[in-house]
Amino acid sequence: MKIGVLTSGGDAPGMNAALRAVVRRALSTGQQVYGIRRGYEGLLNGETYPMDMSSVADIIHRGGTILHTARSERFQEPEHQDLAAAWVKQTGLDGLVIIGGEGTFKGMVELCNRGVRAVGVPATIDNDIAHTDYSIGFDTAVNTGVEAVNRLRDTATSHERIFVVETMGRHSGQLALAVGLAGGAESILIPELPIDMDEVCSRLKRGIARGKVHSIIVVAEGAAKGFKVAEGIEACMGSETRVTVLGHVQRGGTPSAFDRLLASRLGAKAVDALCSGHSNVMAAVSGTELKLIPIEKVINEKKSIDMEVYTLAEDLAR
Ligand code: F6P
Repeated sequence: MKIGVLTSGGDAPGMNAALRAVVRRALSTGQQVYGIRRGYEGLLNGETYPMDMSSVADIIHRGGTILHTARSERFQEPEHQDLAAAWVKQTGLDGLVIIGGEGTFKGMVELCNRGVRAVGVPATIDNDIAHTDYSIGFDTAVNTGVEAVNRLRDTATSHERIFVVETMGRHSGQLALAVGLAGGAESILIPELPIDMDEVCSRLKRGIARGKVHSIIVVAEGAAKGFKVAEGIEACMGSETRVTVLGHVQRGGTPSAFDRLLASRLGAKAVDALCSGHSNVMAAVSGTELKLIPIEKVINEKKSIDMEVYTLAEDLAR
C-alpha cells in the first residue's frame, strides 16, 4: 500500500512518536509512506514527500510535530474537500493515517464520504474525544499543569495568597479536572458545569477557618477567564488574588512515557487497520486494549466528565 500520513489541528506532545510508529510499522510490513505537511492545508497544496526509516529517527522524545500542523479554513468548504479527495486519488495514495483531534476527524469524515480510505489516531491535550480513554498528549499536558501548580503553591504559601490557574480546554474540562485533582486545587471550574462563585468563596473561607494560608483555584479557559474568576474572589474575600494563564505552555514539551507508549501503540494499530482493509475508523484505547471505533460514532458523541472524579476532587480539597 501507499500510505499518506498527516497531523492536523492543535499539536500535542506525542504526535511525533505516533508518526514514527506509523512510518516504521508501514515500512517494516512492506508499505510505502508519504508524509503530508501542514495537515489538510498540505493536502490542498500537494505538500507531500516520501518517508523512510531515518526520516523519523530521533523524534520519539520531541514535542510538536515534524510534519507541522494547521487549522485549515479552506478545508471546511465542500469544494476544497472535493479537491483534497481528488488529489489523494490522483497521487495514488491507498489510504491515510490522520493524527489529530475532533475537528480533524470531522474533516476525515468528509474525505471518507468522498471515497478516501482513512484511519484516525486521537491526539489532543484536551482528551475530549469520545470512545477513547485517552488521547495522545493529554498525560504530558496534565503533568505540565501539575508541575506549574506545584511551583505556584510554593510562592502562594510564602505570600499566603490565593492563585487562579487557567488551563487550556475551550470546550472541555478534562484537562482542568485532572490538573486540579492531581494538584490538590481547592476548586475546579470546568465548562461542563455551571460556575458557582458563592461556593468557590465559601470553600475558600472554610479553608481559612481551618488554618489554610493559601489556595489554588483551577479554571478551564472554556469555563471562565482566570482574571474574571480572580475579580470575583477579590470581591468576596477582600484579598489580592494572582492569576497564571498556562496557555500554550501546555501544548509543548517532551512527551511523557505514557504518551510515547500510547502513541506507538495507536500509530502501529492504525497502519495494521488500513492494511487489513479497515477505513472510516479511529484507533482507540479502552483500559489496556486497543480498539477500532467507527469515526461517525466518535464525532457524533461528546465525551462526558466523570462526575465521580469531580466529586472526589471536591471532597478531598475540603
Ligand atoms: O484543541 C487543543 C487546544 O489546545 C485547546 O485546548 C485550545 O483552546 C486550543 O487548542 C487553542 O488553539 P490555538 O492554538 O489555535 O489557539
